[in-house]
Amino acid sequence: MSNSQAPLRILTISANELILELIQTALERDEHYFGLDGVAHQDDLLETIARSAPDFVLLDFLAPNLQLVEMLDKISLQFPEVVTIVILPEDQVAEVHRVLMAGARAFIIQPFNQNQFLTVLERLAELHQRNLKSKSDAALQVEYAAAHRGTIVVFSPKGGVGCSSVAINLAAALMNELKQEVLLLDGKLLFGDLDIMLNLKTQNSIADLIPHVGALDEGLIRDVVSVHVSGLKVLPAPANPSAAHGIRPEDLHRALIGLQTVFPYVVIDSGNFLSDNAVTFMDACHKIILVVNPDIACLRDASRFFEICRTTLSFPKDKVLVVVNQHDQRDGLSLKDIERALQVKVFATFPWDRRTSLQSINRGVPVMLQAQNSPLRKASMNFATNLIAALGHVPNEAAKTRKVLSDVLSKSSRLG
Ligand SMILES: Nc1ncnc2c1ncn2[C@@H]1O[C@H](COP(=O)(O)OP(=O)(O)OP(=O)(O)O)[C@@H](O)[C@H]1O
Ligand SMILES: [Mg+2]
Repeated sequence: MSNSQAPLRILTISANELILELIQTALERDEHYFGLDGVAHQDDLLETIARSAPDFVLLDFLAPNLQLVEMLDKISLQFPEVVTIVILPEDQVAEVHRVLMAGARAFIIQPFNQNQFLTVLERLAELHQRNLKSKSDAALQVEYAAAHRGTIVVFSPKGGVGCSSVAINLAAALMNELKQEVLLLDGKLLFGDLDIMLNLKTQNSIADLIPHVGALDEGLIRDVVSVHVSGLKVLPAPANPSAAHGIRPEDLHRALIGLQTVFPYVVIDSGNFLSDNAVTFMDACHKIILVVNPDIACLRDASRFFEICRTTLSFPKDKVLVVVNQHDQRDGLSLKDIERALQVKVFATFPWDRRTSLQSINRGVPVMLQAQNSPLRKASMNFATNLIAALGHVPNEAAKTRKVLSDVLSKSSRLG
């Protein structure tokens, strides 16, 4: 693709000599453009585009054998940077909608003169430059996000051990400590239940970002993300299992990059299934929180997970931090036993507190924000503080975003 100084390269596809001549003469008048040798039909069009690297492609609606919609589709898939413009005969104006939906950026109604043609090009050239600039800005933001911010994946190979509870309370504690925006993402795409656990009534989910991953911007992301009364930003799992099934890892990765550019901290509840999507999150995160209960089955699964991290996934050992939930359960294994079995130090523990935990889920309010003096809350705070230190980040004392506790409770409780 040309840089901002070089003339824009224009490829015209038409068998109409008059159109070709008019376009060529118009382009020769303006140093900002360079007309490439066109082709008359679609047989070798994709090859020609690959070879001649145009910025703009002009497609004559009446070019022989041109399956316009299919061709627009192919061009936008294979060459997403190329701007396509369709030359539409006056009597085919009704096709405008179909043409634009198929991926054309603009159309020119034929007959047209040189000035009209150059005016359309000028407008598109401006848009093109703006696009290039915002793309390079976005690239910078991505680098910044990757280098400086925190994405945490909470995972457990075993279900029901408290993965979602830990993710929710970690997100709330990070927000509390850092005074920065934290996004809680339900990465358990099938059967995720963060929305219900937080009493959120929204139809929006991560699936709403997937069709737009090629062009995500902050406005779109903020439209889709929900705001919990605590101030936590939440992106639930799709309510519809077929929407969840259709999400591909590469799209999820692009969606996550978009989210990381908007939210300084992202906590992902990735559930208990080591799918391609879960691994995608793990690849893109800074730390993986491995939640275990103090029992032998959990330990065996956790130790297998460490093995997979070491062999298949090649994660450094210190990327995974072990958190023992319900560590003081009666008849549970001791921390020493757990550390010996896993050959790592336990990073944090959460006490067994059925009442507070259930109350939190039933009310849709994180323990962190409702049970001021509970040991579970204190454990969440300690966990967040130590994690911030492990990430090498510093809490931002200046900003004050903490909500009044009673306000949060009264607005959120579904028990009234
Ligand atoms: N520290 C705790 N003390 C007592 N009960 C807890 C604790 N943490 C979680 N629980 C309870 O365990 C149950 C499962 O919790 P949670 O939904 O967070 O687990 P999960 O691993 O996300 O489950 P799933 O596999 O279904 O997604 C809930 O009823 C919750 O109240
Ligand atoms: Mg869960």
